[in-house]
Amino acid sequence: MSASVITVQSKENISNNLIITKPASGVSLQGRIRVPGDKSISHRALMLGAIAQGETQIQGLLLGEDPRSTASCFQAMGAEISDLNTEFVRVKGIGLGNLVEPMDVLNAGNSGTTIRLMLGLLSSHAGRFFTITGDGSLRSRPMSRVVRPLQQMGAQIWGRNNGTLAPLAVQGQSLKPIHYNSPIASAQVKSCILLAGLSVEGKTIVTEPALSRDHSERMLRAFGAQVDTDPETNTVTITGPAQLTGQSVVVPGDISSAAFWLVAGAIVPDSELMVENVGVNPTRTGVLEALKMMGADIELENQREVAGEPVADIRVRSSQIQSCTIAGDIIPRLIDEIPILAVAAVFAQGTTIIRDAEELRVKESDRIAVMAQQLNKMGAQIRELPDGMEITGGTPLTGTDVDSFTDHRIAMSLAIAALNANGTTTIHRAEAAAVSYPDFTPTLQKICS
Ligand code: S3P
Repeated sequence: MSASVITVQSKENISNNLIITKPASGVSLQGRIRVPGDKSISHRALMLGAIAQGETQIQGLLLGEDPRSTASCFQAMGAEISDLNTEFVRVKGIGLGNLVEPMDVLNAGNSGTTIRLMLGLLSSHAGRFFTITGDGSLRSRPMSRVVRPLQQMGAQIWGRNNGTLAPLAVQGQSLKPIHYNSPIASAQVKSCILLAGLSVEGKTIVTEPALSRDHSERMLRAFGAQVDTDPETNTVTITGPAQLTGQSVVVPGDISSAAFWLVAGAIVPDSELMVENVGVNPTRTGVLEALKMMGADIELENQREVAGEPVADIRVRSSQIQSCTIAGDIIPRLIDEIPILAVAAVFAQGTTIIRDAEELRVKESDRIAVMAQQLNKMGAQIRELPDGMEITGGTPLTGTDVDSFTDHRIAMSLAIAALNANGTTTIHRAEAAAVSYPDFTPTLQKICS
């Protein structure tokens, strides 16, 4: 396949169409790939760096739009952050409780992690007033999941729809500790409460129904906070007030970005890809387990630990994959990878069932509805379930016009589906990929050439 098979059409920099044409002879993917830094870890490194004492150095920060939103919010509140386009980003922390009242509305852009984690920090800044908004997608996403527990701690938060939709306004308060039994397994909810608990006297406790990603717990500990976990009950306790000291953070490659190449390598015939330096924190590796359940040929090599996070290189070779059932406690450990796993299921033999994933309906888009509609336009057989999808694999796809609905993971998932679809697929609004993977298209071109 030559590079010209993938083209990008730019219309006044507003909308990019990604056009992928599969040659009649098919494609094969080969090569070594380095994925960009982990998005979740990048947000946390910037935030903890900003509120710690002293300097934090971040190596491998994701240069996507989401972490840029986090950086600009904390710069507006007094943190000094060096040029993000360098290998080592330096954050001069201003110390816990010292965020400055911003002169203007904070803008979290498309980023749920930015707004939800930041709300925990802002709520505990007694005497200071903050307003936060985001783009159209973020302004429609539920904030009650963090606003309610913060209000139980004594936070004062106002917003549209009875304080549950951004724009939100926060009048910082001295908060009190709570034990919050979260109805959902959400790292954003857990992290928001832990960050609020940093400056609260006593033990702030969060219990969740299943374990969500634990990057906050790991990084808070590394910065000096007392964080205790009880794996039996999925309970995390932070004892405040904490003393945070700036650290050196090395951000591993994002397994959520690696997932696109792992599925591409598995489903495109005669392919072999090596994805290097991928974070394989066990709270994130559900996608590897799901692909192995499907019989994908995936091997982890060179497993190591880098700055408190497990890392590996992952090799994938194409093979005929089978359907599987993805449900229950694994869901929070692969929640962001379900769109690309749906693509894998379209090319698997048999019927794949995805359940217990109703959270997908309140992501950057309604990922159940959008993936089902867009892949079905290409000829897939997907039935929406209230909390997932039933995907009958094995029908060939045909290229057509599809849309990302401005959701980065939808844009990239559809691009991988297009590699195995006959003819030409045009993915509208594919520029959304820049939220988490600005170099997605050049990387795709590289492994196809
Ligand atoms: C994230 C947590 C997850 C995930 C999101 C990033 C985080 O969201 O979907 O992309 O960095 O904490 P939820 O906490 O809503 O499950």
